[in-house]
Amino acid sequence: MLGINFSFMMAETIGGKGLSERKIEDIKEKAAQAVSEIKQRKWPELQFMDLLKDDTSAVKDEARRLNGVSENFLILGIGGSALGPKCILEALSPFHNISKKPKVFIYDNVDPSTLDCIFKNIDIKKTAVNVISKSGGTGETAAGFKIVYEKMKKALGGRAEEMFVLTTDPGKGDLRRLANEKGFASLPIPPGVGGRYSVLSSVGLLLAEIIGVDSGDLLKGAADIHDRCLKDEVWENPALMTACLCYLMDREEGRGIDVLVPYSDRLRSFSEWFCQLWAESLGKLGMGLSPYPSVGTTDQHSQMQLWMEGPENKVVIFLRVEDYGVDFQMPHGFDDLPGMNYLSGHTLSELIKAEEEATELALAKIGRPNMTITIPRIDAYHLGQLFYFFEIMTAFVGFLYGVNPFNQPSVEESKRLTFGIMGRPGFEAKKKEVEEARGKKTIFKL
Ligand code: PA5
Repeated sequence: MLGINFSFMMAETIGGKGLSERKIEDIKEKAAQAVSEIKQRKWPELQFMDLLKDDTSAVKDEARRLNGVSENFLILGIGGSALGPKCILEALSPFHNISKKPKVFIYDNVDPSTLDCIFKNIDIKKTAVNVISKSGGTGETAAGFKIVYEKMKKALGGRAEEMFVLTTDPGKGDLRRLANEKGFASLPIPPGVGGRYSVLSSVGLLLAEIIGVDSGDLLKGAADIHDRCLKDEVWENPALMTACLCYLMDREEGRGIDVLVPYSDRLRSFSEWFCQLWAESLGKLGMGLSPYPSVGTTDQHSQMQLWMEGPENKVVIFLRVEDYGVDFQMPHGFDDLPGMNYLSGHTLSELIKAEEEATELALAKIGRPNMTITIPRIDAYHLGQLFYFFEIMTAFVGFLYGVNPFNQPSVEESKRLTFGIMGRPGFEAKKKEVEEARGKKTIFKL
C-alpha cells in the first residue's frame, strides 16, 4: 500500500522553515469540509471516483478485437487524452516497442515531423487507431484523425473503419456523431469524467489491455486506497495530509512550486501526468501551485543545486519505490580505486534508494522542506493507487484554495484565436485581433 512520510516538512525535524503541528490542527476543519464535499459528490466531475467499480469487459473485448487485426496501436489524443496512456505504457511496459507487439505510438501533438516518423515506422494497413477525445472536438486530435483516416481509407478502402476505435463522451460531440453515423467502434468516457481525471476510464484501460496488462488490477489498486483517502481526520488520510501540507507550504511559507521526483525511469511520464493535473486543476484566480517534473537520480546532477541553494520557493516530493523487481550486484573490480571500491558487493537498488534518502536529508539539513511518497513496486495495482491518490489529493487542494479543480477556462482563448487564424467560420473577429497583434509585433524586432 502507498504511504507517505512528511517528517521533513515539519518544524520539529527541520526547524523554522517547516510547518508546526498547530498549523495542521488549525486547518483541520477546512480539510474535513473538503472531504465532505467529495463524499457528498457536490461536483458532477467527481464521477472519476465511480470508475473503480467499472466493468472492464467492453475494453477487454475491444483490445482483443484490435490486437487480432493489427501489429501497431496508434493513439491520437492530447492532454488528459494522451498523458495517462503514455504513463501506463512507460511504467508497465518500458522500452515496449523494442521487443513487444503491438508496437505503440502516441501522437499527442500536431508536429508534422513526428507524424512522418510514425508513418515511416508502421504499415498503416496493420495499425489499429484509438482516437481519444472527451469533447470530440479538440483541433489537434481532429487534425491527426483526418490525416490518418484518409491514409487508412486509401490503404483499406471500405474496411478502414474497422481499424479505429473512438473513445469519447457517450452522448455528444463530433466523435460520438461519427461513431453513431459511420459505424466506428467506440468506448465511452463517462460524462462527469474530465480529461485529466480520465486515466482509469477506457482512456487508459484500453491501452493497458492492448499491452497485456489486466486493467482490473489498475482499478483494484485504486479501489483499495479509496477509503483511506476519504477519511475525515487529516492525521489518518494520506491524500488529505499531502494536500494540506502543499497548501500550507504555499500560503504560509511562500513555497508554491512542487517538484515531483520519482526515483524511477518508469515513472518519468508520471511526472508529466502530474504536471497537467496540478497545473490545469489548480492554476486559477491568481492562485495555484506550480508543478515541476523531475526524475531521480538523474536530476540530482541537473536540478539539485537549484533545490538546495536557489530561491526558497519549492517543496520537493520524492516518490520512492521499495522493490524494483530486478537488481544487479556490482562486482568487485577496480577495487584499488577509492571512487569504485565502496560500490563492490552492493546492488543498484541499494544505491538508488541510498541516493534518494541522502537527497531528502541533504535538503532537510538546511531546512528545505520535502516529503516522500512510497510505493511498494511499480505494477498495475500500485500504479492505479498512485493515479487515484493524486487525483483525490488534487481535488482536495482545489477545495482548500476555493477554486474549481475540474475546469480549465483559460485554455479556451488560445483555441479561439487559433480558429480565427485557421479561418473557422464564426471566428472572424478573432482573426482580426490576430492581424492587429501582428502589426504590434513588428515594433520590437532584432
Ligand atoms: O483535462 C482536460 O480536460 C484537458 O487537458 C483535455 O484532456 C484536453 O484538452 C483534451 O481534451 P479532449 O479529450 O476533449 O480532446
